[in-house]
Amino acid sequence: MANKFATKFGVVMAAAGSAVGLGNVWRFPYLAGQNGGGAFLLIYLVCILFVGMPIVLSEFVIGRRSGQNALEAMRTLSGSHRWDWLGIMCVVCGILFISFYIVIAGWCVRYLSLSIFHAALPDIANTLIALALNVGIIWFGVEKGIERISTLLMPLLLIILLMLVIRSLTLPGSGEGLKFLFTPDFSKITPSVFMAAISQAFFTLSIGLGCMLTYAAYMKKNQNLIATATQVVGIDTLVAIVAGIAIFPAVFSLGFSPAEGPQLVFSVLPAVFAEMPGGSIFMVLFYILLLIAAITSSISMQEVAVAYFDEQRHMPRRKAILLTTGIIIVLSVLCTISCNSSINLCGRSLFDWFDYLTSKFMMPIGGLAFAIYLGWFYPLKDTREELQQGSNLKPWFWHTFLWTIRIIVPIAILAIFINGLLA
Ligand code: PHE
Repeated sequence: MANKFATKFGVVMAAAGSAVGLGNVWRFPYLAGQNGGGAFLLIYLVCILFVGMPIVLSEFVIGRRSGQNALEAMRTLSGSHRWDWLGIMCVVCGILFISFYIVIAGWCVRYLSLSIFHAALPDIANTLIALALNVGIIWFGVEKGIERISTLLMPLLLIILLMLVIRSLTLPGSGEGLKFLFTPDFSKITPSVFMAAISQAFFTLSIGLGCMLTYAAYMKKNQNLIATATQVVGIDTLVAIVAGIAIFPAVFSLGFSPAEGPQLVFSVLPAVFAEMPGGSIFMVLFYILLLIAAITSSISMQEVAVAYFDEQRHMPRRKAILLTTGIIIVLSVLCTISCNSSINLCGRSLFDWFDYLTSKFMMPIGGLAFAIYLGWFYPLKDTREELQQGSNLKPWFWHTFLWTIRIIVPIAILAIFINGLLA
């Protein structure tokens, strides 16, 4: 990934490829289902707008300004080693993240083989198949190829989701589902709903672990950062909402419980496909596309760690891939086992711990640090200059952005943290 992106469209697609993934189709619906539907959606959208979007922009500014990976970027901009912890946290977060994310990608492999062969391999095999796909792409350096493929295939995923929307909406009693998703019941808003919504904003936008920062390092100076961030955030939010509209009407019509948890999408969608003419073919296509969406996200997580060992530790790239893959194999196998057993640590399985630690702690802390650094420590004129490159920066936008990263983002993240810990 050492070159600049060739086209502005390519950058949007690569960043959107990282953002759009299991977070939109699998995690958003199940969290919305568990946290009161409309109430969750409302708070989630507020988090995306006032916390997610400013952090995407902050990572873009830091990444393009420095042209480096997260650790080196902070060293270059700050001229010191004081922010090294942040770079290291990004690397650790990337590894923990992919170790449980690849398990869910493995569920896609499982449902894919169930829909084709009506049989499935044991879960550990599915996890390892998903991981092999991920590593194969990184090893052979075909990220550029996958970018091109996903530019073609991601719109197709959206089309299948839209077909599911139509089927779901025409099921009897589907109105209940729409009401659930779009009518906020304010009595359902609790500190844990805020915590779930903010963690989802970080998860789905791939922020707080230097992923967006790394992509921005490859952007050209004439790329409009504001427009790019708006497009990436817009596409990501659109896919999540469409997934919600595909799922909730069916949940209510077919008698599932919206609060079913992580298995929600995997149990509801096959039931919807069963109600469609040619459903089994669409189901195969859907799981292939979802798996590709997951892999375009997971390669960007491993890349954070590979870039660190490669660029910072001067390890040959292939050695860096082997080392990170070794660690990921051990952790993801443990995660897979933990999902299927009753072994747990303080009430959570290892899988839950990794999800919890990354999206509820490390990513919010990472995002908070990027925003605070830019808002309070880095010369404002440099940030402004970087935002102006390639875009027509309006004064109102600059001031809103500045005060959002200086005040709103820190207060929101800290308040939600403290509330969540006390709850
Ligand atoms: N945003 C991705 C998704 O929604 C997950 C992801 C998180 C990707 C962090 C990269 C880094 O599935």
